[in-house]
Amino acid sequence: MSEPVTLRVENNIAVITIDNPPVNALSHAVRTGLSRQIQAAISDDAVKAIVLVASGRTFPAGADVREFGRPRETPILSQVCDLLETSPKPTIAAVHGNALGGGFELALACHYRVVLNNAKLGLPEVKLGVLPGGGGTQRVPRIVGAEAALDLMLSGKPIQAKKALGLGLIDKIAETDVDDAALAMAQQVVLEGAKTRPTRDRADGLQDAVAFANAVAARRKKMKNDPLPSVARIIDCVEAAQILPFEAGIAMERTAFDDCETGPEATAMRHAFFAERRAAKVPELKGATLRPVTSIGVVGAGTMGAGIAIACLDAGFPVVLVERDQDGLERGVQRIVSNYDKSVAKGRIDAATGEGRLSRLTGTTNMQDLTPVDLIIEAVFEDEDVKRNVFAQLDEVMKPGGILATNTSYLDIDALAATISRPQDVVGYHFFSPAHIMKLLEIVVGEKTDPNVVATGFELARKLRKVPVRAGVADGFIGNRVLAAYRLAADFMLEDGATPAQVDAAMRAFGFPIGPYQVLDMAGLDISWARRKRLAATRAPEDRYVSIGDKICEQGWFGQKAGRGYYIHDQEDGPVENPDVLEIIEDERRAQGITPRSFSDQEIQDRCLFAMANEGARLVSEGVALRPSDVDVVLLYGYGFPRHRGGPMMAADQVGLLKVKNALTSWRAEEPRFWAPSPLFDELIKNGRKFGDL
Ligand code: NAI
Repeated sequence: MSEPVTLRVENNIAVITIDNPPVNALSHAVRTGLSRQIQAAISDDAVKAIVLVASGRTFPAGADVREFGRPRETPILSQVCDLLETSPKPTIAAVHGNALGGGFELALACHYRVVLNNAKLGLPEVKLGVLPGGGGTQRVPRIVGAEAALDLMLSGKPIQAKKALGLGLIDKIAETDVDDAALAMAQQVVLEGAKTRPTRDRADGLQDAVAFANAVAARRKKMKNDPLPSVARIIDCVEAAQILPFEAGIAMERTAFDDCETGPEATAMRHAFFAERRAAKVPELKGATLRPVTSIGVVGAGTMGAGIAIACLDAGFPVVLVERDQDGLERGVQRIVSNYDKSVAKGRIDAATGEGRLSRLTGTTNMQDLTPVDLIIEAVFEDEDVKRNVFAQLDEVMKPGGILATNTSYLDIDALAATISRPQDVVGYHFFSPAHIMKLLEIVVGEKTDPNVVATGFELARKLRKVPVRAGVADGFIGNRVLAAYRLAADFMLEDGATPAQVDAAMRAFGFPIGPYQVLDMAGLDISWARRKRLAATRAPEDRYVSIGDKICEQGWFGQKAGRGYYIHDQEDGPVENPDVLEIIEDERRAQGITPRSFSDQEIQDRCLFAMANEGARLVSEGVALRPSDVDVVLLYGYGFPRHRGGPMMAADQVGLLKVKNALTSWRAEEPRFWAPSPLFDELIKNGRKFGDL
């Protein structure tokens, strides 16, 4: 292996180059190399200044992911940063690409920073449940004060070079060659007496102590209820920058980092990070020949079709949008137009970009216009006959080798594929609403689907910036199956004594942005009603059935769009509990002879979580999900499952599988089939394993 860090001396300037492709991650070997070369440069009398550069596409973009969650071998990053900062010779960072996390901290420890104009700088550690551990919490506030430092570290969002310059975080923007610009600056600094400027000694950001303290206090108040311990620790560390000596602040940062890194939240967030990457690895990718996709057709321009078209236009594809009549088409196109108008108005894109994207859209009511298209995504009504009819028409017009993807939520893709002459070209692309925003894409693989079509789906997902997860054919695939279990567990509790508002509040406290009944009101109660009706025939007479939702639908209370559902929505001060629903619930309890009992938030959370994990385990056993972590990715990216809990399977692992299984078993008396623990629990428990080990 070539040296990851090299040193050369050019006209009295030492150039230390990091070369650890692809992203110059700060692995142990890189830290060791840096430490050695910095010391060599310092002790070389011919060297007057040191420039730190990176080869390849970026300055270090962060830590080495393989070291996540493990104790770091020395030298740790803050030791390397110390060397750079305490160097008696000026140190200058030349930054290009994405200087993130430890990469940015390395630059912050240098005395001067020159940055390429399109580079980004950031401290995203909070997104993994930790905090900067290389001195970032102490150095950034010393330069820019509390407000900007907290923004950077609590949002985790990178900033552009220009903004960094405005804040004073960097010294110069290079327009072309950043290494040359940094060398020129080094020469200049040497000419001017080779003054060092250790960040630890700077106090630019600390000057107004009152403003500093106020900014910290305001943020502490604002983030009071954040579930991540790292958030509070970042605020503490930033506060320390103002009141403690640098070394004490660094020690505090180190302790906070270690505490957070080993905590359940960071463990769950690391799991989410790796689970997402793992989900993209599917057997079909091996030896696959991708089918070319240069144009996309979307059939049905309703809620989903319009969103899918936007996602495809945003990714640069030309899109042919087909509706059944002119009115429908106009409505659909209008949806897309107003989306771009809004994006332009909000400054997310400029007008020319919006127009450019729209210009790639062709609307039509003629299926034949789809003949030249490589991939067609069908998003017509969720009705088997309608879909069959559309499939038959598409079979007529589609080019040979074209891909036919359906966005169905529940329908049997194999049955649909069997109705046409090319079942091998049929696949499910299950988008989530709003389709141009939600990250998840379930790629549903039918019995006859050509592996190359599956592989092409994963490649398309990458282009659409979606998170793809492979699913087998099953009613509701992965996500909606788990969701159904979640809702059923909640419905049982409604009938047994809880209220919708109480269940919603408990699940928000668990970390969901909104509770299950709020979601139902938002999505429309009629959709799940239709599913229950469709599945009625498959229900065993002994299965417990809760008809509260049906009774609400019978009143026409389909949720937000109808003004009422579980909540009343047309109120000035926001939704309130619907008293008529509470009456329906009481009537149902009476009819079932149920004496209501009370539920603690903990029990509500346990029942919902364990029901989800159990359904996830069943999906893995059935082969619908390839692995438990895929179930987690689906729930995290499609259903608002709190990231700091890592998904239902991870959350169950953290509770302990024996405990989960015992609880499930104890609830079996209430509903034998629903609460029966998946055999996967016993299999894992007896081998001392967890879902995460699969
Ligand atoms: P929608 O009712 O908003 O839109 C369906 C559109 O298809 C309508 O504009 C209709 O005019 C059009 N259409 C019907 N027959 C057609 C035909 N023969 N040719 C061309 N266009 C035709 O429905 P939505 O919500 O967009 O759902 C579409 C599909 O996406 C369904 O399969 C649904 O299950 C699925 N889905 C829906 C989600 C949601 O949150 N709404 C989420 C994920 C999937």
